[in-house]
Amino acid sequence: MEEQPLSDSEIHAHSAPIRRVTTNQLGKMKRKGQPIAALTAYDALIARIFDDAGIDVILVGDSLGNVVQGHETTIPVTLDDIIYHTRAVNRGVRRALVVADMPFMSYQVSPEEAFRNAGRLMKEAGAGAVKIEGGKRVADAVGRMTEAGIPVMGHLGLTPQSIYQFGTYRVRGKETNEAENILADAKLLEEAGAFAIVLEKIPAELAARVTASVEIPTIGIGAGARCDGQILVYADMLGLSVDFRPRFVRLYDSLYGRVTDAAKRYADDVRLRNFPNDDESY
Ligand code: KIV
Repeated sequence: MEEQPLSDSEIHAHSAPIRRVTTNQLGKMKRKGQPIAALTAYDALIARIFDDAGIDVILVGDSLGNVVQGHETTIPVTLDDIIYHTRAVNRGVRRALVVADMPFMSYQVSPEEAFRNAGRLMKEAGAGAVKIEGGKRVADAVGRMTEAGIPVMGHLGLTPQSIYQFGTYRVRGKETNEAENILADAKLLEEAGAFAIVLEKIPAELAARVTASVEIPTIGIGAGARCDGQILVYADMLGLSVDFRPRFVRLYDSLYGRVTDAAKRYADDVRLRNFPNDDESY
């Protein structure tokens, strides 16, 4: 079949710059019932793949402490670490909203310090928004940032930066008291100006109640199907991490095995002098 020339509007569509996903768009997606797909990424290579795949939100999570740096917790991650990785992710992304996680002690001291550090993530790293853990205790910081034009994503339920306070990574919000606190915190975050809330490892029923009680989108991780969107740590859903298999992670691939196999075949070829061959040499 003969190829038809592109119309003016098609040419325009092809040459038009791709627009970044905005926090407003995410709000619209909630109102229209369109689920938001989010993943973490920590470098340009992976961020580019996820962006090309149409992921809406890429979070430069402080989970990089576990995934990239090999720490047991997220506590050692610094603001400079997040700035470094957010810069890299930003270089790989054209469309997705890039959210930079605020690490432990970068927002707890005072709303003013939170504001200054969030400003660095926007200005120096190019983040489109920041994320902080907690409800009531961070509401003033959220207010300070949002009134100055910094979009803030909240994070309730299991908040890994508080691991030494809780002592375990168990499901949160199972008891009535804790569930009511999570509901109240979600409201406070919304009132303080947050544009979305991550709900981590809470009962699906509670996540559905939170989702129905706020107008901003909820993004679940281990929080059931009735959130407005879902997020996973990419190394978990690709099967790259071997020691971490919580029930809420669906394996979309088993890259640990596939990459190990590729590395072994490469090592065998090198040792048997099968690599490189003449075509791979100059
Ligand atoms: O740091 C992170 O990756 C996160 C997600 C699990 C939401 O906070």
